[in-house]
Amino acid sequence: MTGPTAHAPAGPVALVAGGTGPIGRAVATALAARGFRVAVHYRSRPDTAQALVAGLPAPPPASPGASAPPTSLPTPPPPSAPEPADASLMTRPSTAQPSAAPLAGDSPETGRSVTVQPVQPVHLAVGADLTAPGAVEALVATVEEALGPVAVLVNAAHPGLSAPVPMADPDPGALAGQLAAVAAHAALCARVVPGMRKAGNGRVVYLSGALMARPAPGFGYYGAAKAAATTLTRYLALEEGTHGITANIVAPGRVVDPGEPEDLTPEQADLSERLLQRMALGVFPSPADIARAVVTLVESPAVTGQTLWLTGGEPIGV
Ligand SMILES: NC(=O)c1ccc[n+]([C@@H]2O[C@H](COP(=O)([O-])OP(=O)(O)OC[C@H]3O[C@@H](n4cnc5c(N)ncnc54)[C@H](OP(=O)(O)O)[C@@H]3O)[C@@H](O)[C@H]2O)c1
Repeated sequence: MTGPTAHAPAGPVALVAGGTGPIGRAVATALAARGFRVAVHYRSRPDTAQALVAGLPAPPPASPGASAPPTSLPTPPPPSAPEPADASLMTRPSTAQPSAAPLAGDSPETGRSVTVQPVQPVHLAVGADLTAPGAVEALVATVEEALGPVAVLVNAAHPGLSAPVPMADPDPGALAGQLAAVAAHAALCARVVPGMRKAGNGRVVYLSGALMARPAPGFGYYGAAKAAATTLTRYLALEEGTHGITANIVAPGRVVDPGEPEDLTPEQADLSERLLQRMALGVFPSPADIARAVVTLVESPAVTGQTLWLTGGEPIGV
């Protein structure tokens, strides 16, 4: 496997799995602003991923003579970092594969489990259904090949439930989809840890959900999957801490993007109102709020195995 070229820009690499949802987009944007080179993973929305990557800020270029980007976590650049002196870096051909090319490790059934949308050399959009055979391996190998070793994994990838599923009215397909996301999280962690061990540090942040601990009717499969992946993340924290790897969980309740109009059913609107009444802050967190929490955990080497609840203070009082 070859790494990035000698002219690769500085900045350790962050892989944001599930980078096309509102939270994943905010996380990718926040990490790029902190000096990371970001691989934005998508499943079905290549255009969203490509547009996001095209708009991400570039980290400052590597110093002359540098042969590889640092694998240590970055010192955050000043908020208004100047444009790289070598602006041609922005348009230089990526080391990534051609768009939509099948990669080694693709699903034998479809040959399409992983596709790559190179936009600019410093960041990358990579497509994969993480529940397909070989997809996690192909995804991480592609990121390593194009950008370098993964220093930070943020996993925000998760299939939504198309409709609530009461326990007494089971839907085996929906349950299998939720559990497959747990398996994908375990596989992602296992795949990035060896590189993090080698670097002597690494960060894993899992996007869980408050429904793992505070049930709402019909969300048992989702809550159980989030609880399972959260537990796996805490085990990772325990097992990898001596390698300088931290693993933490961000657990939002309801997240509302103030710029996005919502079309809630009466039941959803009622649940939303009841949640608001229980919240100390009286306002739902935004994707940018979630991203701030993720960045805080990424920049906190002494915090591991923790769950940061972003529920607006929901459980504080009656
Ligand atoms: N938004 C909330 O209110 C909220 C609250 C609590 C927890 N969360 C959790 O926070 C995370 C991000 O939320 P969000 O609202 O930004 O998510 P979202 O809009 O539902 O997007 C989910 C992401 O996961 C990807 N994905 C879905 N199934 C996948 C699969 N089989 N393989 C690979 N990728 C897959 C999607 O890719 P494509 O879009 O490209 O298909 C997308 O990037 C999720 O884990 C969610 O459960 C969200």
